[in-house]
Amino acid sequence: MKLIFLGPPGAGKGTLAARAVEILSIPHISTGVIFRSAIAAQSPLGIKVKAIIDAGKLVDDETTIALVKERLAQDDVKTGYILDGFPRTIPQAEALAAFSEVDTVVNFDIPDSIVLERLGGRRVCRECGRNFHVVFNNPKKEGLCDYCGGEVYTRDDDRPEAIQKRLEVYRAQTAPLIDFYRNKGILVDVDARPPVEEVVENFKKALGRG
Ligand code: AP5
Repeated sequence: MKLIFLGPPGAGKGTLAARAVEILSIPHISTGVIFRSAIAAQSPLGIKVKAIIDAGKLVDDETTIALVKERLAQDDVKTGYILDGFPRTIPQAEALAAFSEVDTVVNFDIPDSIVLERLGGRRVCRECGRNFHVVFNNPKKEGLCDYCGGEVYTRDDDRPEAIQKRLEVYRAQTAPLIDFYRNKGILVDVDARPPVEEVVENFKKALGRG
């Protein structure tokens, strides 16, 4: 099954993807995670994108499309994948259609008020990328990941100014993809407001597996 997770920053895409991987046994490909790993490694890609990402803007389409095209050419995604954070613009969606046929687009339906609450308290593991939250999902040991023991930190783009910019960018450039995919008849809406376990159930129902 080839899936896209579409939704505003902080909607819970990465959190649900970690669960969906276990349910569907397909790889999770997050362009945000790929970019953050490149930044941590100080690779040429990381050096190129760091300031853009920290400011809450989008990396250019050409760079992002090339990255995803290369990743989707690998063997482990032949039978399916979850694309999280890509496509984010109409040109990215058009490019994707030329090299992979997506089955379903999962649209995370959530108001800005909840998004702000989630991003404001998010903490992320530097090693495995798992998401935590100071209120909704605090690590059992302060500052350490429950899964791998890595350091848990606040993302540079979770500062208030960058959050506002990311929401603006989402409305202007990414939200139009909802109609783009709805018109193709492959979009399903998932209510992303409730606690994680309920969102997992909403997701399964949306895929006809509930
Ligand atoms: P990316 O990493 O994709 O960021 P994003 O889309 O802004 O999404 P987030 O990771 O912020 O949120 P999420 O929906 O995964 O929520 P999460 O599960 O963490 O991209 C980062 C940057 O990279 C972009 O800004 C851009 O610069 C660049 N980039 C990436 N892709 C690109 C592309 N295609 N083109 C160009 N540039 C690109 O959850 C958030 C918090 O809420 C967590 O603390 C979590 O614990 C908590 N939470 C989650 N679900 C629930 C729940 N149900 N109840 C309570 N709390 C919850």
